Order: sequence, then C-alpha cells, then structure tokens
Amino acid sequence: MGQYFSLSAASFLLASGYAGARSVLEPAGEEAQQIAVLFWVMLSGGALIWLGVVGLLLHSALFNRRRLAEKSASRIILWGGVVFPSVTLCALLAYALWLMPGLRPFAQASSAALRIEVTGRQFWWEVVYHPSQGPPVASANEIRLPVGERVELTLKSADVIHSFWIPPLGGKMDMIPGRINRLSLKATKPGVFRGPCAEYCGTSHALMAFSAVAMEPEAFRSWLAAQAIPAPSAGASGSALFLRHGCGSCHFVAGTDARGTIGPDLSHLGSRVTVGAGILPNTEDAVARFIARPELIKPGSSMPAFDMLPPGDVRAIAAWLRGLQ
Ligand code: CUA
Repeated sequence: MGQYFSLSAASFLLASGYAGARSVLEPAGEEAQQIAVLFWVMLSGGALIWLGVVGLLLHSALFNRRRLAEKSASRIILWGGVVFPSVTLCALLAYALWLMPGLRPFAQASSAALRIEVTGRQFWWEVVYHPSQGPPVASANEIRLPVGERVELTLKSADVIHSFWIPPLGGKMDMIPGRINRLSLKATKPGVFRGPCAEYCGTSHALMAFSAVAMEPEAFRSWLAAQAIPAPSAGASGSALFLRHGCGSCHFVAGTDARGTIGPDLSHLGSRVTVGAGILPNTEDAVARFIARPELIKPGSSMPAFDMLPPGDVRAIAAWLRGLQ
C-alpha cells in the first residue's frame, strides 16, 4: 500500500501536468539565467579541451608515430601541460568570480518591496509574507512571487538543516537551525515551478517540496490581498467536523476556532497548487487520502492517521478544506 502511494506520487511528479519540475537550464529568473550561462560556458570549455586532447591522442597514435626529440617533447609538455591548462582554468575561474556578485545579490532592506520568511520543518514549509505595507500573511507549502520584482527571502529551520531551492529561479541556500540566511530572487517569467528540499533531512526528504508560482505583479497583489482575509467558508459540516475531531489543535484556519501552530496553516488550502508539501495534486480525493493515512503519502510525518473516522467525515472535512480558496 505504502509503495503504491509513493509510486503514485512519483509518477504524478514525473508524468502529470504538474508543470513545475523544471530544470535549471530553463531559467525563469535573473540568477538562474546567469547560472545557466555559466553552465554552458563551462560545458563548452570542457568539451573543446576534451576534443583537443582526444584529437591529439588519435593524431599521435594513428598518423604520427615517430619519436620526438627530447627538446620538442619538453616543449609540448610545457605548453600543452602547464601553460594552456593554467591559462584556461584561470580564465574560467575569473569568469565565475566575476559572475558571483550577480548570483547572490543581497537585497537591501529598502530595495525589496516584499520579504518572504520561509521556515523548513520536517517535512513541510512554513511561509509568511511581509509586504512593505499591511500585516504579515501566513501560508504554507507554496511560494508566490511577483514577476520583475526583487523579493527577499529570509530562510530558517525549526528542526534540522533543510535547503531552499527553486531551480528555474536561482541557486540553493541552506536553512540552518538557529540562523537566518538571506536569499534574494527576481523572477523574469510567470510560471509554476517545483521547489525541492535540497539537503537530506530525514525519511521524507525526497517528498518535501513546494510549488513556486511567479505571477504578474497585479495578479500577485490581488492574490496577496485575498490571502490576508479569511477564505469564504462553505460546508459548515466540514468545518464543525474539523474542529470536533481536534484538527484545530495543530492547524490554523483564519476565521475559525482552529488556532494550532504545529502543522501547516490551512487558511487558503483550496487555492494551492499541491497538497502534502508538493506531493499530490490539490484534489478533494488527495486531501481525503492525506487525512486518512498521512504516513502512506509522507512517511515520518508528524500528523497522525485519521482513518478511524467514518469515511463520510473525512470526505466532508476534505471538501471544506478544498473550498477554502
Ligand atoms: Cu527538508 Cu530535505
């Protein structure tokens, strides 16, 4: 059963339309663009040198088998073995060092209009938006950012070391307990990307991901404004069951009596691209499956199973949560 669920999660990530699992080589952000250029320059440099060495080898093995005089052999070693590699490696190193400030542009407090605080937890992401105006907005397992605007991320961990990475937007940065690391990113194209945890952090490390959504600034601002207020709730029975079965002691849902802080904030769960921290598509069925047997989808998760509840109750809770747009 467990295998079935892990397999279905994996095949969903690989084969479904979950656009997101995009490569570093399809950049959609300023930093990722530079990383992609650096990669192609290094790869072309390496390929040229490899071709040169193999060409020389073939030439000497097939066509030019006479012995060289000691003097010309030493000259080949000096130029081909010392001067050429030193110059090439120094040039590549100088290029990489020259790129570096652009790869880690530290957002000045004044230049970033939006700061997003992300805390890594086993095995999900706590997200708090701090816009320059207005109160902070809490969310989880999804990061939205406006295209064309530099965003500052403050990265923390609540337990072990995790690593924050949105491959098409920029390089990775560790999330270390007791430390605040800063990263700044600027998306250049709208899109939905997958952000994996990039540091082994326990059983479900490979199942710890989030969706990153780069949106047009206007759409982003209206989305953030909608997130700042409680979602209009439909399905009073689901809401009552959620509270009666104790879900509210771990989860927060704005506008209700659910005030827990141990698990992800579910205030606008229905508006997210995925559930289970980047693992399943956000459908009522996936939410119900997660509530019933979380350990089958995310081994090592702190959430207890609720499969002792009548299936109708689980369905009603899932339907209500999905409705929190
Ligand atoms: Cu969190 Cu790996």
